[in-house]
Amino acid sequence: MMDASWIAIAAENELAPGQMKRINAAGKRLLLCNADDKPYVVDEMCSHEDYSLFLGCIQNGRIKCSLHGSYFDLKTGQPETGPADKPIRSYPVEIKDGQLWVCPR
Ligand code: FES
Repeated sequence: MMDASWIAIAAENELAPGQMKRINAAGKRLLLCNADDKPYVVDEMCSHEDYSLFLGCIQNGRIKCSLHGSYFDLKTGQPETGPADKPIRSYPVEIKDGQLWVCPR
């Protein structure tokens, strides 16, 4: 159930598969990702160093950091390959009224 903490961040069909969009929500830098037509929202910055995952790419439900090559699962935020060993956060996303919504808490 969506309460007032949810924020509309994009039109439902705004991004094509493989595309990303940087968003600012509740003071956080987040990344909306379209992975095979499924939307995910994760932290924009890599957990390894202060580097934007926006500069990486989306592959098979994962996002790759282009600085040192770590892959993160977009659904869980868990790193699948080093050197990153800490997760990034993945946030709940909903589709409603033709918009994508995130709960950035
Ligand atoms: S900064 Fe992302 S893997 Fe090193």
